[in-house]
Amino acid sequence: MSKLGILGRSGVPRSNEGMRLIFSAVIGVMLGYLFGISFPTVYITKLHFPSSIISYIEDRNSGITTQTLLNHAWTFANSKKRNSSESNSDEIPKIYVPTNPKGAESLAPGIVVPETDLYLRRLWGEPSEDLTSQPRYLVTFTVGYPQKANIDAAVKKFSENFTIMLFHYDDRTTEWDEFEWSKKAIHVSVRKQTKWWFAKRFLHPDIVARYDYIFIWDEDLDVQHFNAEAYIELVRKHGLEISQPGLEPDKGLTWQMTKRLGDQEVHKVTEERPGWCTDPYLPPCAAFVEIMATVFSRDAWRCVWHMIQNDLVHGWGLDFSLRKCVEPAHEKIGVVDSQWIVHQVVPSLGNQGMAENGRAPWEGVRARCRKEWGMFQTRLADAENAYYLQKGIIPPNSTA
Ligand SMILES: *[C@@H]1O[C@H](CO)[C@@H](O)[C@H](O)[C@H]1NC(C)=O
Ligand SMILES: *[C@@H]1O[C@H](CO)[C@@H](O)[C@H](O)[C@H]1NC(C)=O
Repeated sequence: MSKLGILGRSGVPRSNEGMRLIFSAVIGVMLGYLFGISFPTVYITKLHFPSSIISYIEDRNSGITTQTLLNHAWTFANSKKRNSSESNSDEIPKIYVPTNPKGAESLAPGIVVPETDLYLRRLWGEPSEDLTSQPRYLVTFTVGYPQKANIDAAVKKFSENFTIMLFHYDDRTTEWDEFEWSKKAIHVSVRKQTKWWFAKRFLHPDIVARYDYIFIWDEDLDVQHFNAEAYIELVRKHGLEISQPGLEPDKGLTWQMTKRLGDQEVHKVTEERPGWCTDPYLPPCAAFVEIMATVFSRDAWRCVWHMIQNDLVHGWGLDFSLRKCVEPAHEKIGVVDSQWIVHQVVPSLGNQGMAENGRAPWEGVRARCRKEWGMFQTRLADAENAYYLQKGIIPPNSTA
């Protein structure tokens, strides 16, 4: 079960049956209100509310006077009706707006809100005065409680211009409240799920549409030499749509591309071991970053989100295919050298696997990672071949 801890964070006890009832009652009344004011002329006059329903709603929510709202809607609808009957157009035309988001064509465009954000709001006062700040950047960490010191240090490298979001895979959320910043963070808790599982489910592009840049980070990163504002400045300056900070050379380094170069701000190409790159502008020599500390622009993320598969939760192989989402990839994917991190290589989620056939938990996880990588490559190649075939084009030999 997932807990978006927004209510919990503002001091309301979680998983409290009483609260839940009140909450659903409020939602019910709000829905009633919305229907009432959204379609007064079209529907209200035709709807017949039995008085028992009205008093039922009132009983469940003595604070809000539903009757008043309905009266208001009635008056409004009636006067409209009188006006429209004068002009002899009793038939109200149906709304159909093909340019609305798919499925919402029957709504007047003015009421359609296709995107949202992760800003916290108050339960009282003027909605327009709720937000004291509207961060333009989002950073997510997928965390287990044992890494709390690391995450605390990392979060402090991100200014108030960032929304902080934690994905908890060990179901321990309340313990984080020892940190002041945690009370304003977004917490999503689901047992034993991976970063890409969370990202696919909770970072839909329409949900994070307010953020210019989205950091999707692991928990085992040492950020001593990293400053998030400075990083974003460099990413903007060099036009990087997908990026990562350089990695300190002597630890956790798999690819030359991600290795920090001491003498420059960013790099976009590198040299690998002989024979590793078929093309100097293709991974792993260019158009390539790893998936441990990736930073996406809004547009790049919209594409990458669509490429993430629901069932391939480890994201292996994604790094080699990120280039499908930006053009030209060898110029828009790169590594920021002057803001760099150390990958500490703590296989924490790996230990949340299951011991099977005499294998340690992490071995099963590792095997699954490899299998997913193969599956992802096959799916991508098949999809592209199918596309080319359908278009009557002979598929290029390399689609990986
Ligand atoms: C009805 O028409 C009158 C006169 O044209 C106008 O003053 C009034 O605001 C209209 N009422 C509504 C609800 O549109
Ligand atoms: C936050 O963003 C604003 C506007 O871009 C900027 O002026 C400010 O310096 C930023 N805060 C920090 C701590 O960098």
